[in-house]
Amino acid sequence: MKKIIIGSDHAGFRLKNIIINHLTQKYDVEDAGTHSQESCDYPLIAKKVANKVADGTYTLGILICGTGIGMSIAANKIKGIRAAVVSDTCSAKMSRLHNNANILCFGERIVGEELAKDITDIWLSTEFLGERHAKRVDMIED
Ligand code: RB5
Repeated sequence: MKKIIIGSDHAGFRLKNIIINHLTQKYDVEDAGTHSQESCDYPLIAKKVANKVADGTYTLGILICGTGIGMSIAANKIKGIRAAVVSDTCSAKMSRLHNNANILCFGERIVGEELAKDITDIWLSTEFLGERHAKRVDMIED
């Protein structure tokens, strides 16, 4: 079973709980917080999730804030992280196929809950194509 870690700030808290409930039967899901709607700072949650994906404790991560943008900017500061902000299913799929994204970001203020579930399902079930794309992803790491 894939090990997934998921985090949000206050602006993504409600959608985080919906996604956790949606995933728990198929995946081993760790909730990295936040644990209430009280205002908090998204870079701290992004760092926590990104570090645990980068060190291999979890296979993939999901980060939710108001837009997904702040979370992705912060997560991409951690070496080895390829965080993609996504608000449609095609981009979700391509971010895995071509970019080997290891963190999915989206915004509770941007995507509805059914679309967020579809994006998450497609993203988690799509594997990296490798080959010519692997060379390019390696270039990002370098
Ligand atoms: C919080 O108001 C909001 O700025 C945050 O959730 C996120 O959207 C930042 O990118």
